[in-house]
Amino acid sequence: MTITVGILTLYVGRRRTIEERPFLAACANEGVKLGIEVIVFTPEDVEHRSRRVRAHLYDVRRKRWLRAWRPLPSVIFDRCRYQSTPRFAQMRAFRRRYPHLQYLNHPLANKWLVHEVLARHAHVARHLPDTGLLRGMSDALRFGARHSTIYIKPVNGTGGRGILRLQCSPSASCRLEGRNAQRTIIASKTGSRSELLRHTLRLCRGGSYLLQQAIDNRLSNGQVFDFRLVVQKDGSGKWTLTGGAARVGGPRSITSNLHGGGRAVGWQTMLTQQFTAKRSESIVDDMKTLAIRVAEALEQRYGRLCELGLDIAVDRSGKPWLLEVNPKPAREIFRKTGQHATYRTAIRKPLEFAIFLSR
Ligand SMILES: Nc1ncnc2c1ncn2[C@@H]1O[C@H](COP(=O)(O)OP(=O)(O)O)[C@@H](O)[C@H]1O
Ligand SMILES: [Mg+2]
Repeated sequence: MTITVGILTLYVGRRRTIEERPFLAACANEGVKLGIEVIVFTPEDVEHRSRRVRAHLYDVRRKRWLRAWRPLPSVIFDRCRYQSTPRFAQMRAFRRRYPHLQYLNHPLANKWLVHEVLARHAHVARHLPDTGLLRGMSDALRFGARHSTIYIKPVNGTGGRGILRLQCSPSASCRLEGRNAQRTIIASKTGSRSELLRHTLRLCRGGSYLLQQAIDNRLSNGQVFDFRLVVQKDGSGKWTLTGGAARVGGPRSITSNLHGGGRAVGWQTMLTQQFTAKRSESIVDDMKTLAIRVAEALEQRYGRLCELGLDIAVDRSGKPWLLEVNPKPAREIFRKTGQHATYRTAIRKPLEFAIFLSR
């Protein structure tokens, strides 16, 4: 019997479109090569009575999407994103209704809760920037006194939205810069630490935010950089590093996200500009070890996972610091750095893991 993998997604916008179609088409393509069927559906496409779904299928030969009824698949790859939208609840309802299907992955909690889970694992905790919740002025002052530069980030943020950086030097005044919730770069502001912390609190009113020690990841021209690593389970259920690349933020940006103007660069290129070849190699090893430990730790807490995208900053001494864990990583960075084989591997691995689970 042919194995069917169901990719669970959500319609976005009023026109109920399906996002990341090129990625989904690539999954269907790899599926054909592996001899399995990949179908795409949303909770809205399920007919519960008959346990069927009106799926979106990609016709690999004709290169086009079509609709067809299929039995509810028993293996599910959850790609539902946008936790803040009302439709996200549909995914949770689907999972509650069908707890016995084989899910390749499980949702993670917000950035703060994920931080708390990871902080309990000593090998990972060493690589976590000092982080706290911003509940009011006293948290902000305490944190500001501990670190000359801090990041302020929404606990449910993505893509660099709503992130601020407050930088203070002993001699000069402080500077606050960053992006608003729409990801537009805001005008930077200078002033005393307490003035700018008060301003920060006003900007953050109404939301939940983290305070985080800034990792000094600035290049000599002031641009920030970090790394995106993708770890995935392989066809024998083992965690492996699929690949990674560096991202360099735009000229006035405090974030490196590709969607916020960041540029993807090969990680060797990035590392060997700043470290010896030997040191670069050991940094990659350290990042890889860290990434796999993070995956194992989160899996223990949240249930089975098949992949994670990790944002890792490397400081001037070469130490990696975990900035963020993304449970549903894009693979665009591999295409942007010309790593086409890695892009395909990153598409294939979850499907191979699905085959492994179905046996
Ligand atoms: N503590 C930090 N130190 C240095 N840079 C940071 C820090 N936190 C975030 N950044 C920068 O901001 C970017 C976005 O932060 P991240 O925590 O990954 O949130 P998002 O979910 O919006 O991607 C990071 O990729 C990095 O460039
Ligand atoms: Mg990120």
